[in-house]
Amino acid sequence: MSLKSGPGFGTTDLKRVTRIRFDATRFKRECRVLDTIIGENKLMSHDLFEAAKAAMSKAYAPYSKFRVGAALRTEDGRVFAGANVEIASYPEGWCAETTALGHYIMGGGGKIVEIAVLAERMAKCSPCGGCRQRLAEFCRPETKLYLCDNAGVAETVTMGEMLPYGFRGDILK
Ligand code: THU
Repeated sequence: MSLKSGPGFGTTDLKRVTRIRFDATRFKRECRVLDTIIGENKLMSHDLFEAAKAAMSKAYAPYSKFRVGAALRTEDGRVFAGANVEIASYPEGWCAETTALGHYIMGGGGKIVEIAVLAERMAKCSPCGGCRQRLAEFCRPETKLYLCDNAGVAETVTMGEMLPYGFRGDILK
């Protein structure tokens, strides 16, 4: 029995089937979103990604045009986000992670359990050295850091991996 003559499957259907193209890029993106939501060790991270993305849209980066968003979650589920802020006198600007930390402190602080960072023009934007030290102040070595691209989490690392041998302030207390 040919497709042409088969019951319930005529030439029109055949044409329609051949018109469906597999969009590999879209498929990959959808898989990434799903993995972000349900993947191993990644549970609950998608809303953090969305918070970082929303923050990124508020970036004030007229000089570098390099917009960054960061979001962090405390143990009790609070989420704080921030974007980079640039100043005409360049060294006076600051990073997205630092804005998020400011919101976190003003929101009551607490134990940070995960962090997401996202840049518009760079996949897996890794926090700068200064921000690693600032984040480490409020994190444990096992705190997860999600390096994102515009579809979701691209790589998960820990703060311990990000800042091994970082300066610790215990002796100053
Ligand atoms: N930037 C961040 O906001 N976070 C980082 O982790 C790396 C860099 C910002 C700072 C500046 O506004 C722009 O990216 C270019 O360096």
